[in-house]
Amino acid sequence: MVDSLMVFLKKHKQQITIELEKYIINNTNEGRLRDAMLYSIQAGGKRIRPILLLAVLDSFKQDTKKGISVACALEMIHTYSLIHDDLPAMDNDAVRRGQPTNHKQFDEATAILAGDALLTLSFQIISESKELTSEEKVYLIKELSAASGPKGMVDGQMQDMDSENQTIPLDKLETIHKYKTGALLKFSIMAGAFLAQANNHETIELTRMADALGLLFQIQDDILDVVGDVNTIGKPTGSDEGNHKSTYPQLLGMEGAVNQKNYYAEIAYKSLDHAGVNNTILSELIKYLSQRDR
Ligand code: IPE
Ligand code: IPE
Ligand code: MG
Ligand code: MG
Ligand code: MG
Repeated sequence: MVDSLMVFLKKHKQQITIELEKYIINNTNEGRLRDAMLYSIQAGGKRIRPILLLAVLDSFKQDTKKGISVACALEMIHTYSLIHDDLPAMDNDAVRRGQPTNHKQFDEATAILAGDALLTLSFQIISESKELTSEEKVYLIKELSAASGPKGMVDGQMQDMDSENQTIPLDKLETIHKYKTGALLKFSIMAGAFLAQANNHETIELTRMADALGLLFQIQDDILDVVGDVNTIGKPTGSDEGNHKSTYPQLLGMEGAVNQKNYYAEIAYKSLDHAGVNNTILSELIKYLSQRDR
Protein backbone atom coordinates (compact mmCIF):
# COMPACT_ATOMS: atom_id res chain seq x y z
CA MET A 1 0.00 0.00 0.00
CA VAL A 2 1.20 3.53 -0.77
CA ASP A 3 1.95 5.62 2.31
CA SER A 4 -0.35 8.54 3.01
CA LEU A 5 1.28 11.97 3.12
CA MET A 6 1.31 12.10 6.92
CA VAL A 7 2.94 8.66 7.19
CA PHE A 8 5.48 9.64 4.54
CA LEU A 9 6.31 12.92 6.32
CA LYS A 10 6.69 11.31 9.73
CA LYS A 11 8.75 8.38 8.50
CA HIS A 12 11.19 10.44 6.47
CA LYS A 13 11.44 13.28 8.97
CA GLN A 14 12.62 10.75 11.55
CA GLN A 15 14.95 9.03 9.14
CA ILE A 16 16.54 12.30 7.97
CA THR A 17 17.05 13.49 11.54
CA ILE A 18 18.75 10.23 12.58
CA GLU A 19 21.02 10.33 9.53
CA LEU A 20 21.89 14.00 10.07
CA GLU A 21 22.89 13.30 13.68
CA LYS A 22 25.08 10.41 12.58
CA TYR A 23 26.80 12.48 9.89
CA ILE A 24 27.54 15.26 12.37
CA ILE A 25 28.79 13.02 15.17
CA ASN A 26 31.00 11.01 12.80
CA ASN A 27 32.54 14.10 11.22
CA THR A 28 33.15 16.48 14.13
CA ASN A 29 35.30 16.50 17.24
CA GLU A 30 33.61 16.55 20.62
CA GLY A 31 33.00 20.07 21.85
CA ARG A 32 31.22 23.35 21.33
CA LEU A 33 31.18 23.33 17.52
CA ARG A 34 29.59 19.88 17.39
CA ASP A 35 27.11 20.91 20.11
CA ALA A 36 26.09 24.03 18.19
CA MET A 37 25.65 22.11 14.92
CA LEU A 38 23.57 19.43 16.63
CA TYR A 39 21.56 22.07 18.50
CA SER A 40 20.11 23.64 15.35
CA ILE A 41 19.70 20.31 13.56
CA GLN A 42 17.90 18.74 16.53
CA ALA A 43 15.70 21.80 17.10
CA GLY A 44 13.38 20.33 14.48
CA GLY A 45 12.22 22.01 11.33
CA LYS A 46 9.86 20.56 8.78
CA ARG A 47 12.65 18.93 6.70
CA ILE A 48 10.67 19.98 3.64
CA ARG A 49 13.61 20.10 1.26
CA PRO A 50 14.85 16.54 1.93
CA ILE A 51 11.26 15.31 1.93
CA LEU A 52 10.59 16.93 -1.46
CA LEU A 53 13.65 15.21 -2.91
CA LEU A 54 12.53 11.83 -1.55
CA ALA A 55 8.94 12.49 -2.67
CA VAL A 56 10.11 12.97 -6.26
CA LEU A 57 11.92 9.63 -6.12
CA ASP A 58 8.84 7.99 -4.59
CA SER A 59 6.54 9.55 -7.21
CA PHE A 60 8.72 8.05 -9.95
CA LYS A 61 8.58 4.71 -8.12
CA GLN A 62 12.26 4.76 -7.20
CA ASP A 63 13.88 3.68 -3.94
CA THR A 64 14.20 6.75 -1.70
CA LYS A 65 17.48 5.35 -0.24
CA LYS A 66 19.33 6.64 -3.28
CA GLY A 67 18.54 10.22 -2.22
CA ILE A 68 19.29 10.12 1.52
CA SER A 69 22.84 11.48 1.48
CA VAL A 70 22.03 14.39 -0.83
CA ALA A 71 18.81 15.07 1.13
CA CYS A 72 20.87 15.37 4.33
CA ALA A 73 23.41 17.63 2.62
CA LEU A 74 20.56 19.86 1.47
CA GLU A 75 19.11 20.13 4.97
CA MET A 76 22.55 21.02 6.36
CA ILE A 77 22.84 23.91 3.92
CA HIS A 78 19.32 25.05 4.72
CA THR A 79 20.02 24.91 8.48
CA TYR A 80 23.27 26.87 8.07
CA SER A 81 21.34 29.51 6.10
CA LEU A 82 18.84 29.88 8.94
CA ILE A 83 21.57 30.15 11.62
CA HIS A 84 23.20 32.97 9.65
CA ASP A 85 19.85 34.56 8.69
CA ASP A 86 19.02 34.97 12.40
CA LEU A 87 22.31 36.70 13.32
CA PRO A 88 22.19 40.29 14.59
CA ALA A 89 23.85 41.48 11.36
CA MET A 90 21.00 39.95 9.35
CA ASP A 91 17.42 39.50 10.64
CA ASN A 92 18.41 39.64 14.31
CA ASP A 93 15.88 37.05 15.49
CA ALA A 94 15.87 35.38 18.90
CA VAL A 95 13.69 32.30 18.31
CA ARG A 96 13.93 29.60 15.62
CA ARG A 97 12.29 26.20 15.44
CA GLY A 98 10.69 26.94 18.81
CA GLN A 99 14.00 27.47 20.60
CA PRO A 100 16.52 30.27 21.16
CA THR A 101 18.42 30.95 17.94
CA ASN A 102 21.92 29.51 17.71
CA HIS A 103 23.70 32.79 18.58
CA LYS A 104 21.41 33.29 21.61
CA GLN A 105 22.01 29.76 22.88
CA PHE A 106 25.78 29.91 22.19
CA ASP A 107 27.30 33.17 20.91
CA GLU A 108 27.76 34.90 17.57
CA ALA A 109 31.17 33.44 16.80
CA THR A 110 29.92 29.91 17.50
CA ALA A 111 26.81 30.46 15.36
CA ILE A 112 28.90 31.71 12.43
CA LEU A 113 31.23 28.73 12.73
CA ALA A 114 28.41 26.19 13.16
CA GLY A 115 26.94 27.56 9.92
CA ASP A 116 30.29 27.38 8.14
CA ALA A 117 30.75 23.81 9.34
CA LEU A 118 27.29 22.65 8.20
CA LEU A 119 27.90 24.20 4.79
CA THR A 120 31.24 22.51 4.19
CA LEU A 121 30.19 19.19 5.70
CA SER A 122 27.29 19.03 3.25
CA PHE A 123 29.64 18.73 0.28
CA GLN A 124 31.84 16.19 2.08
CA ILE A 125 28.77 14.02 2.65
CA ILE A 126 27.82 13.93 -1.01
CA SER A 127 31.41 13.24 -2.04
CA GLU A 128 31.60 10.27 0.38
CA SER A 129 28.14 8.87 -0.38
CA LYS A 130 27.98 5.12 -0.95
CA GLU A 131 24.68 5.34 -2.84
CA LEU A 132 25.94 7.58 -5.64
CA THR A 133 28.26 7.06 -8.58
CA SER A 134 31.20 9.42 -9.11
CA GLU A 135 29.39 11.11 -11.99
CA GLU A 136 26.24 11.59 -9.93
CA LYS A 137 28.30 13.11 -7.10
CA VAL A 138 30.01 15.64 -9.35
CA TYR A 139 26.72 16.66 -10.95
CA LEU A 140 24.91 17.01 -7.62
CA ILE A 141 27.75 18.95 -6.00
CA LYS A 142 27.83 21.31 -8.98
CA GLU A 143 24.07 21.88 -8.87
CA LEU A 144 23.91 22.23 -5.08
CA SER A 145 26.77 24.71 -4.96
CA ALA A 146 25.17 26.73 -7.77
CA ALA A 147 21.78 26.76 -6.03
CA SER A 148 23.15 27.76 -2.64
CA GLY A 149 26.03 30.00 -3.74
CA PRO A 150 26.66 33.49 -5.11
CA LYS A 151 24.25 33.11 -8.05
CA GLY A 152 21.65 31.41 -5.87
CA MET A 153 20.62 31.54 -2.21
CA VAL A 154 23.50 33.70 -0.99
CA ASP A 155 22.78 36.34 -3.62
CA GLY A 156 19.09 36.20 -2.66
CA GLN A 157 20.07 36.92 0.94
CA MET A 158 22.32 39.77 -0.24
CA GLN A 159 19.50 41.32 -2.27
CA ASP A 160 17.10 40.85 0.65
CA MET A 161 19.47 42.75 2.95
CA ASP A 162 20.13 45.45 0.31
CA SER A 163 16.39 46.03 -0.09
CA GLU A 164 15.66 46.72 3.59
CA ASN A 165 14.17 50.18 4.25
CA GLN A 166 13.04 50.63 0.65
CA THR A 167 9.89 49.98 -1.32
CA ILE A 168 10.81 47.74 -4.20
CA PRO A 169 8.64 46.77 -7.19
CA LEU A 170 6.97 43.36 -7.25
CA ASP A 171 9.25 41.96 -9.94
CA LYS A 172 12.30 42.74 -7.80
CA LEU A 173 10.70 41.05 -4.79
CA GLU A 174 9.90 38.03 -6.93
CA THR A 175 13.57 37.86 -7.94
CA ILE A 176 14.68 38.00 -4.29
CA HIS A 177 12.29 35.19 -3.37
CA LYS A 178 13.37 33.16 -6.38
CA TYR A 179 16.97 33.22 -5.23
CA LYS A 180 16.86 33.31 -1.44
CA THR A 181 14.29 30.51 -1.12
CA GLY A 182 13.43 29.21 -4.57
CA ALA A 183 16.91 28.12 -5.60
CA LEU A 184 17.36 25.53 -2.85
CA LEU A 185 13.77 24.28 -3.10
CA LYS A 186 14.24 23.91 -6.83
CA PHE A 187 17.38 21.89 -6.23
CA SER A 188 15.34 19.50 -4.02
CA ILE A 189 12.99 18.75 -6.91
CA MET A 190 15.59 18.70 -9.68
CA ALA A 191 18.00 16.48 -7.73
CA GLY A 192 15.10 14.05 -7.22
CA ALA A 193 14.28 14.20 -10.94
CA PHE A 194 17.93 13.59 -11.84
CA LEU A 195 18.24 10.57 -9.54
CA ALA A 196 14.90 9.21 -10.75
CA GLN A 197 16.17 9.56 -14.35
CA ALA A 198 13.16 11.63 -15.35
CA ASN A 199 12.94 12.12 -19.13
CA ASN A 200 13.23 15.49 -20.90
CA HIS A 201 9.54 16.26 -20.90
CA GLU A 202 9.15 15.33 -17.22
CA THR A 203 12.21 17.42 -16.32
CA ILE A 204 10.83 20.51 -18.09
CA GLU A 205 7.50 20.18 -16.29
CA LEU A 206 9.17 19.57 -12.92
CA THR A 207 11.32 22.67 -13.47
CA ARG A 208 8.16 24.73 -13.96
CA MET A 209 6.66 23.14 -10.87
CA ALA A 210 9.79 23.81 -8.80
CA ASP A 211 9.91 27.50 -9.80
CA ALA A 212 6.27 27.95 -8.79
CA LEU A 213 6.80 26.03 -5.56
CA GLY A 214 9.74 28.23 -4.53
CA LEU A 215 7.65 31.35 -4.90
CA LEU A 216 4.55 30.00 -3.21
CA PHE A 217 6.65 28.72 -0.31
CA GLN A 218 8.24 32.12 0.39
CA ILE A 219 4.94 33.98 -0.14
CA GLN A 220 3.44 31.73 2.54
CA ASP A 221 6.47 32.42 4.75
CA ASP A 222 5.79 36.17 4.33
CA ILE A 223 2.10 35.61 5.11
CA LEU A 224 2.90 33.59 8.24
CA ASP A 225 5.23 36.37 9.42
CA VAL A 226 2.06 38.50 9.64
CA VAL A 227 -0.74 36.11 10.61
CA GLY A 228 1.06 32.98 11.84
CA ASP A 229 0.78 31.59 15.35
CA VAL A 230 4.15 32.07 17.07
CA ASN A 231 4.04 28.66 18.78
CA THR A 232 3.07 26.87 15.59
CA ILE A 233 5.63 28.52 13.30
CA GLY A 234 8.34 28.33 15.99
CA LYS A 235 9.72 31.78 15.16
CA PRO A 236 8.59 35.33 15.86
CA THR A 237 5.95 37.09 13.79
CA GLY A 238 6.48 40.71 12.77
CA SER A 239 10.17 40.14 12.00
CA ASP A 240 9.80 41.42 8.41
CA GLU A 241 7.95 44.57 9.44
CA GLY A 242 10.49 45.19 12.21
CA ASN A 243 13.33 44.91 9.70
CA HIS A 244 11.50 47.06 7.09
CA LYS A 245 11.57 44.24 4.52
CA SER A 246 9.47 44.23 1.39
CA THR A 247 7.15 41.21 1.42
CA TYR A 248 4.14 40.05 -0.60
CA PRO A 249 1.59 41.11 2.06
CA GLN A 250 3.31 44.47 2.40
CA LEU A 251 3.30 45.12 -1.37
CA LEU A 252 -0.04 43.54 -2.32
CA GLY A 253 -2.04 43.41 0.91
CA MET A 254 -2.99 40.09 2.50
CA GLU A 255 -5.65 39.23 -0.08
CA GLY A 256 -3.28 40.02 -2.94
CA ALA A 257 -0.57 37.87 -1.38
CA VAL A 258 -2.96 34.92 -0.95
CA ASN A 259 -4.09 35.31 -4.58
CA GLN A 260 -0.50 35.22 -5.80
CA LYS A 261 0.20 32.12 -3.72
CA ASN A 262 -2.87 30.39 -5.17
CA TYR A 263 -1.80 31.41 -8.67
CA TYR A 264 1.58 29.68 -8.22
CA ALA A 265 -0.08 26.65 -6.61
CA GLU A 266 -2.23 26.24 -9.75
CA ILE A 267 0.88 26.35 -11.96
CA ALA A 268 2.52 23.73 -9.74
CA TYR A 269 -0.48 21.35 -9.94
CA LYS A 270 -0.77 21.75 -13.71
CA SER A 271 2.91 21.01 -14.24
CA LEU A 272 2.67 17.87 -12.13
CA ASP A 273 -0.30 16.83 -14.22
CA HIS A 274 1.68 17.36 -17.42
CA ALA A 275 4.63 15.44 -15.98
CA GLY A 276 2.26 12.53 -15.30
CA VAL A 277 2.96 12.46 -11.58
CA ASN A 278 -0.32 13.72 -10.21
CA ASN A 279 -2.04 11.64 -7.50
CA THR A 280 1.33 11.01 -5.88
CA ILE A 281 2.96 11.97 -2.57
CA LEU A 282 4.43 14.90 -4.49
CA SER A 283 1.06 16.32 -5.47
CA GLU A 284 -0.23 15.92 -1.91
CA LEU A 285 2.88 17.68 -0.70
CA ILE A 286 2.28 20.72 -2.96
CA LYS A 287 -1.22 21.05 -1.54
CA TYR A 288 0.10 20.73 2.00
CA LEU A 289 2.80 23.36 1.40
CA SER A 290 0.45 25.93 -0.10
CA GLN A 291 -1.89 25.59 2.88
CA ARG A 292 0.74 25.16 5.59
CA ASP A 293 0.38 26.92 8.95
CA ARG A 294 3.99 26.27 10.04
C1 IPE B 1 12.32 29.00 6.51
O1 IPE B 1 12.33 27.74 5.92
C2 IPE B 1 13.14 29.94 5.69
C3 IPE B 1 12.73 30.07 4.31
C4 IPE B 1 13.55 29.86 3.33
C5 IPE B 1 11.37 30.47 3.98
P1 IPE B 1 11.41 26.56 6.48
O2 IPE B 1 10.01 27.08 6.68
O3 IPE B 1 11.57 25.36 5.64
O4 IPE B 1 12.05 26.33 7.93
P2 IPE B 1 12.20 24.98 8.81
O5 IPE B 1 13.29 24.19 8.18
O6 IPE B 1 10.89 24.27 8.81
O7 IPE B 1 12.60 25.47 10.17
C1 IPE C 1 15.31 33.33 4.82
O1 IPE C 1 14.18 34.08 4.57
C2 IPE C 1 15.85 32.67 3.61
C3 IPE C 1 17.11 31.98 3.91
C4 IPE C 1 17.53 31.67 5.10
C5 IPE C 1 17.94 31.60 2.80
P1 IPE C 1 13.46 34.68 5.85
O2 IPE C 1 14.36 35.60 6.59
O3 IPE C 1 12.13 35.18 5.44
O4 IPE C 1 13.27 33.34 6.71
P2 IPE C 1 12.66 33.29 8.18
O5 IPE C 1 11.29 33.93 8.10
O6 IPE C 1 13.60 34.04 9.07
O7 IPE C 1 12.57 31.83 8.48
MG1 MG D 1 15.95 36.84 6.12
MG1 MG E 1 14.71 35.66 8.72
MG1 MG F 1 10.40 35.01 6.70
